[in-house]
Amino acid sequence: MPRYTLNVNGQVRTVDVPADTPLLWVLRDHLGLLGTKYGCGAGLCGACTVHLNGVPLRSCQFAVSTVAAMAITTIEGLSADASHPLQKAWIEHDVPQCGYCQAGQIMTAAALLKSNPRPTAEEIDGAMAGNLCRCGTYLRIRAAIQDAAQAMATPGGAQ
Ligand code: FES
Ligand code: FES
Repeated sequence: MPRYTLNVNGQVRTVDVPADTPLLWVLRDHLGLLGTKYGCGAGLCGACTVHLNGVPLRSCQFAVSTVAAMAITTIEGLSADASHPLQKAWIEHDVPQCGYCQAGQIMTAAALLKSNPRPTAEEIDGAMAGNLCRCGTYLRIRAAIQDAAQAMATPGGAQ
């Protein structure tokens, strides 16, 4: 069984898994990081979104052998105590319903605000379009992202 050394949430982690194991299952089954969710396994829903070198990507679609050199960030690595402005805004707006899609939503939103700190509503909708929510929380997601963007633009509000 090959051994892979991964950089996950700033920590070096080692796993012994087949080369074609999807990163999603390495995170969940081997590293115990259960925040990243399995939705479709086909790259279609966004529930499994993590950051690879800062880019929001679907962890169900990347074999572990392809990500060993990358910085991997999961929802657990976004902040140590749910203090990221997006997490605060999510709570403020009561965004989650069943919650299943929400880690992926937040990781996509976090990447958006890094690349575009003051997105328009249309830009938010465009960036978030690939993250599906069966509970229909889209309007609250957009409002929470707008609030988080404002908080991050305020001195002392950025993370
Ligand atoms: S589980 Fe990866 S995109 Fe749906
Ligand atoms: S909150 Fe239920 S799927 Fe999005």
